[in-house]
Amino acid sequence: MSMNLVTTLYLIASICFIQALKGLSHPTTSRRGNVYGMLGMGLAIVTTIGLIYKLSALSFGQGGATVGIGYVIVGLLVGGTAGSIMAKRVEMTKMPELVAFMHSMIGMAAVFIAIAAVVEPQSLGIVKQLGDSIPAGNRLELFLGAAIGAITFSGSVIAFGKLSGKYKFRLFQGAPVQFGGQHKLNLLLGLATLALGITFMLTGNLGAFALMLALAFVMGVLIIIPIGGADMPVVVSMLNSYSGWAAAGIGFSLNNSMLIIAGSLVGSSGAILSYIMCKAMNRSFFNVLLGGFGNTADAAGPAGSKEARPVKSGSADDATFLLTNADTVIIVPGYGLAVARAQHSLMELAEKLTHRGVTVKFAIHPVAGRMPGHMNVLLAEAEVPYEQVFEMDDINSEFGQTDVVLVLGANDVVNPAAKNDPKSPIAGMPILEAYKAKTVIVNKRSMASGYAGLDNELFYLDKTMMVFGDAKKVIEDMVKAVE
Ligand code: TAP
Repeated sequence: MSMNLVTTLYLIASICFIQALKGLSHPTTSRRGNVYGMLGMGLAIVTTIGLIYKLSALSFGQGGATVGIGYVIVGLLVGGTAGSIMAKRVEMTKMPELVAFMHSMIGMAAVFIAIAAVVEPQSLGIVKQLGDSIPAGNRLELFLGAAIGAITFSGSVIAFGKLSGKYKFRLFQGAPVQFGGQHKLNLLLGLATLALGITFMLTGNLGAFALMLALAFVMGVLIIIPIGGADMPVVVSMLNSYSGWAAAGIGFSLNNSMLIIAGSLVGSSGAILSYIMCKAMNRSFFNVLLGGFGNTADAAGPAGSKEARPVKSGSADDATFLLTNADTVIIVPGYGLAVARAQHSLMELAEKLTHRGVTVKFAIHPVAGRMPGHMNVLLAEAEVPYEQVFEMDDINSEFGQTDVVLVLGANDVVNPAAKNDPKSPIAGMPILEAYKAKTVIVNKRSMASGYAGLDNELFYLDKTMMVFGDAKKVIEDMVKAVE
């Protein structure tokens, strides 16, 4: 395989990745985007295998290269099988943990490649022969790639633990872990890591490189533990961005254009996504990184008062009566709808209401559910027509003229405290303004709080009717009642 062919194939793969990102920017084109992504990755893998074979053959002869490629293929088969099984088994609501796990793997891969390049630079073509010193520019790239990779790895492991919520270990709890002088310690560690990295760049000292890596691993943990609750989605997309930059840094050292381009695409798209999510939650990056937003202990309010306050509740039949007598209905899906896997029944309900002349629209909050685009994916799975699905900014002005809003398993994204209570931990976060509708129907199983651990005034309004129960059962009962 000639280098010209490698460059051309890498270029085609890069174009596929750009097309993939473009496709993924809208639900109607997202399938096409995924196909482009898979094609680009397939081409990049095959080309890289060809490149590795060519380079190994130059150093170790045909026989050595064949054995080397054998190892690579075994690795691909093991990794590919594990990845496919995990992807098949994962529930939609567990996707953020899986994504955090993947980021940790990318971070660790960057660390391993950097260590290999520092210890045996001749095998990766960074120097001509063993004993030659690595050029300072390459040492800088290796330092950056390894440090960002190490932070990404340990930070993602903590994010994985926090998101899964299954582990008793204190650092894996959803609530922020904070202690006095934490930010100063982080700053100190950051400066020490930088100083050691610069020492490695200037002198090539391996001890400085090893210590720098150890500090970066500790920093990853310390940066993520004070962040909790509703800020986790931003953290995951920020780690996504880090993993891209780590790959790009290593790509420079290995002189691999594919890694540089793919890493930069991941790095910049992750950064843009973090920005969009910060904007959706009315938060600054700095604010998120300092942590404490989702501090459930402070935010939940007096638990006893939740039980004590009266709410109006009704049955699925009562709710159906209101829905069928409305001219306009806006449905607000949330995390609970995904948990109940009620999207198909919901589609049936929406169709039946539309058939009876009710105008039905769906309103999507950018951070509803547990991952970016979660509700869009859920509704697309049930084949809800795209023209009935509206983003928050496009539909908020309509709530005031809407007869009935049906809130299904959503809580934080319709909590008026974000607008009305400047002391609330979610103060300033834009919400779907369901409270403005003439009548509000809320379905959830209990009066329990949502992800941010807050009580929700919407549930206590005179115009609100709570319908308690699992979303799937309640919606199925509504479908029967409409019939
Ligand atoms: P939440 O505020 O988490 O509320 C979901 C509600 O669904 C809960 O109050 C729960 O109440 C109810 N529920 C759970 N299972 C149910 C079931 N089977 N049937 C009916 N209801 C059920 O959800 P949201 O409004 O979608 O807001 C999302 C929150 O997650 C935000 O705080 C957001 O910042 C955060 N977050 C978002 C992401 C992304 S990127 N989207 C990632 C991580 C975190 P009951 O227990 O009483 O039923």
